[in-house]
Formats: sequence, structure tokens, C-alpha cells
Amino acid sequence: MTVRGRGVSAGGAERTGRTPDAALRWLTALAALGLALAASACSGEHPQSTFRPTSQYASTLNGLFNNTFWWTMLVLAIVWGVLLVIIFRFREKPGAPPPQHIHGHTTLEILWTIGPALIVAFIAVPTIRTIFETQAAAPKDALVVEVIGHQWWWEFRYPQYGGIATANEVHLIQGRPVDFVEHSADVIHSFWIPRLGGKRDVNPQPALRDPNAPKRVNHIVLTPDSTGVFPGQCAEYCGASHAVMRTRAVVQTNADFNGWIQAYNTPPNPAQGSVEAQGKQIFESHICMACHTINGTNARGVIGPNLTLVGSRQTIGAGALPTSVASFQTWITHPEGVKPGAMMPGIREGAGGMPPTGLTGPQVQAVAAYLASLRPAAAGAIPAPGSAVPAPGAAGAGAPRPTTTTTTTTGGVR
Ligand code: CUA
Repeated sequence: MTVRGRGVSAGGAERTGRTPDAALRWLTALAALGLALAASACSGEHPQSTFRPTSQYASTLNGLFNNTFWWTMLVLAIVWGVLLVIIFRFREKPGAPPPQHIHGHTTLEILWTIGPALIVAFIAVPTIRTIFETQAAAPKDALVVEVIGHQWWWEFRYPQYGGIATANEVHLIQGRPVDFVEHSADVIHSFWIPRLGGKRDVNPQPALRDPNAPKRVNHIVLTPDSTGVFPGQCAEYCGASHAVMRTRAVVQTNADFNGWIQAYNTPPNPAQGSVEAQGKQIFESHICMACHTINGTNARGVIGPNLTLVGSRQTIGAGALPTSVASFQTWITHPEGVKPGAMMPGIREGAGGMPPTGLTGPQVQAVAAYLASLRPAAAGAIPAPGSAVPAPGAAGAGAPRPTTTTTTTTGGVR
């Protein structure tokens, strides 16, 4: 910069040498500002943005944020305005007398006491209103979903629907309040689907062995208002694979949700002689079935995720890999490489977190093909809206009161 400025000034008057330098400095500053704005990336998809709420709860939170934000901006503008006036009007000038002191100025004292008090009130009143609004008890017709955090995946149970259990993708109904009843099977996690709103810790149950001990559950009650798939992320550090403890909310119409429940209760069965059927046979005769449940098979394990319809989930391993036969192969072969610390066994020592399965390459391939095939049958097989699906409260735990739904961490209806 200096070299170029000198070059210019050398060709003209001594004074004009300063102008290009200053202009260049301004240009550089502007370019840096532009780059900073570009780097802050105020565009794009942002599937986990709280600024695009899809439930009444999230909209309320977003409204409160906006309210607080604009009050803050007003305070900022006033402070900067006053600061700039003071800097330019009252700065020291040569020969000026010492400044006049304003100690004991009653009007000023009153103004700067009342001003902040008013601002606090403008922020506090809507905040308290929002707290009461979002923490209200669930309505009687709410869909109860038990949320259980595990290292490192999410379990979801539907006590009103015969205790159906699924993992990592929670199905919800557009327009129907949902009462998430949360607890953990191990350490503290935090359940958070930003676009649905509410982030809440999922706490362990230290007194699980005592059936009379009070349950420590947390609730989030919200009503999704748009259909779609909304990703979330465990929001409390919980160990090696905390960053790979993702979740998805699949918000459906009532009819689609009923179709999903129906499909869950009538899982697909591979055609005889197919590679998928071989996979099923291997799954049921090896260690897999000790940890996983697949409805319609003899696999009844409860340590790992329920794999009924796992082929229809968008990801496997709680968001670690997109669902495909190849992903299942990778996961079954070497889970440690995908998710450090996972309890899932690999095919050989060191590939996973438990004694190895010892499955051969072709066996892994067959099991992967079987798992990928676990998706609802063709659309025609999914029942039409209004067909026989257990009504809320008609089956399973029955009573939708959350406290009765939290006793089944290690067992329950499967
Ligand atoms: Cu679970 Cu972080």
C-alpha cells in the first residue's frame, strides 16, 4: 500500500500522495467487511434453524427472541448515539475550560433509573408469559412419546399404541399435541429438535431398581404445525460419540401416521430363498437378536435399537450413515470406525464395542440386504385413513398420564 502510494505521490504534488493511501485503506476495510459478512454465511439451508419454527412452541420462543432482540437493538442505538455525541461534542479542545460536573443531577438520576427498569419490564413480562405458556401440562388428547436417551442413540416409545418402540426417527402427527416424556438409560443427554422448539435434558434414573422410587422425567409439550422431516442433535456432551447422536422428527398427517403404526405392526417378511431371507435367518440365529427387536421375528433384544422397519429410516446409527445396503455392511463390519465407543459388536476383535460377531463377508452382506429390506410394503398395502388402528389409550399402557409410562426402560411391551 505504502509503496503504491509513494509511487503516485512521486508523479504529483507532495500532498496528493496521501489521498490514494486513504482511499485504499477505506476500500480494504470495506472489502474486509464484505468478506466477513460472506464468511458468516447468512444464507443456505439450515435444517436446524430455530428461526424457521414448525410448532406453536417454537414460534412462541422465536417471537420472544425477536422481542428481546429488538429491545436490545434499541438500547444499542441509544448507547452508541449518546456515545458518539459525547465523543464529538465534548472532546477536549485546545484552550477549553475544564468540563462542568453534573454530580447530583436529579432529572438524569431519575431517567437512568427508570429507563433500564422499563426495559427489563418489557423483556421480563413476555418472558414469564412464554415460560408459563410453554411449560403447561399436556392436554388429555396429547400423543405420548417416551424419549429414552442411550449412548449414542434415541429410543422412542408409544405407550398409547401398544408400546411400539422405534429408534432415532420419531413419528409425530401434524396438529396433535405431543407430550415427550424424557429420561435416560445411562448418562445425561439433551433432546433437541430446533425447528420444533424446546431443548431439554434427559436424565438418568438412579433408583430404577426400586419400583416405588419417583421417576425423574422431563417433559416437552408441543404441537407440530407442518409436515416434514426435522433433524435434531443431542445437545449435552455425553461421551465419545455425542456428535453422532442425531435424531429426526417425521411429522405426518394423521392418516400417514396411522399407516406407519399399521406397517409397524405388520412388518415385511422376505421371500423364501432370497438373500434377504438368508439374512433374516442369520440375524435370528446369531448374537444380533440378543440386543435388537424386529417385530414379527424371534429377535426380542432390548439393549440396542428396535430395528422394525429400519430400512425405511433415512439414516442408520443415529444419523451416522445414509440408509443403504452398503451402509449396513459398513456398520455391521466395523461400527467402531463409524461411531467410536458404540456398544455394537463388529465382525472381529477391535472392530466394535463388544465380543465380535464373527460373521463372514457373505453373511454380513445377507444381513445388510435383510435390514435394508425392512420397509413398509408397497403403498397399496398401507391402510387407508380411518382403518382399524388402536385408538389412543385403547392399548398398551393405556392411561396417557406420563408418569405411568416411564417404568419400562429395560423391558416393556415389545
Ligand atoms: Cu447424548 Cu450428547
